[in-house]
Amino acid sequence: MKISKEQYDRLPKNLQEYFYKGNFHCTCKPLALMRYLCRLVCPPNGTVLDPFAGSGTTLLAAQKEGFNFIGIEKEQEYCEIARRRVAQATTQRDVETEVSEGTLF
Ligand SMILES: C[S@@+](CC[C@H](N)C(=O)[O-])C[C@H]1O[C@@H](n2cnc3c(N)ncnc32)[C@H](O)[C@@H]1O
Repeated sequence: MKISKEQYDRLPKNLQEYFYKGNFHCTCKPLALMRYLCRLVCPPNGTVLDPFAGSGTTLLAAQKEGFNFIGIEKEQEYCEIARRRVAQATTQRDVETEVSEGTLF
């Protein structure tokens, strides 16, 4: 689901953060939550498979936690968002993510 710029501007601030940086995927999860879940279920050096990758939050979480990851997504637009987020994460310091997403666990 995409939302327009006008719809985005009308969202409460806490919802806007889930659409930040051009990520208009409708069910984007908090990164800190997905990082915790990856740590919870994935063995050391394991691989996280997300067959419904959406905008790639789970893949990004797996990457941040040092796991291998594989994503499958049928929508080209979401694939591009996921690729961009994972690529950007390799150039950003981890602390920046924790500050913007918060640390849940
Ligand atoms: C709830 S979202 C996934 C959220 C994602 N797991 C995350 O970490 O944020 C579900 C996604 O599954 C995708 N999807 C639905 N059916 C699919 C299929 N048969 N193959 C691949 N992707 C599919 C949808 O396009 C949608 O982006």
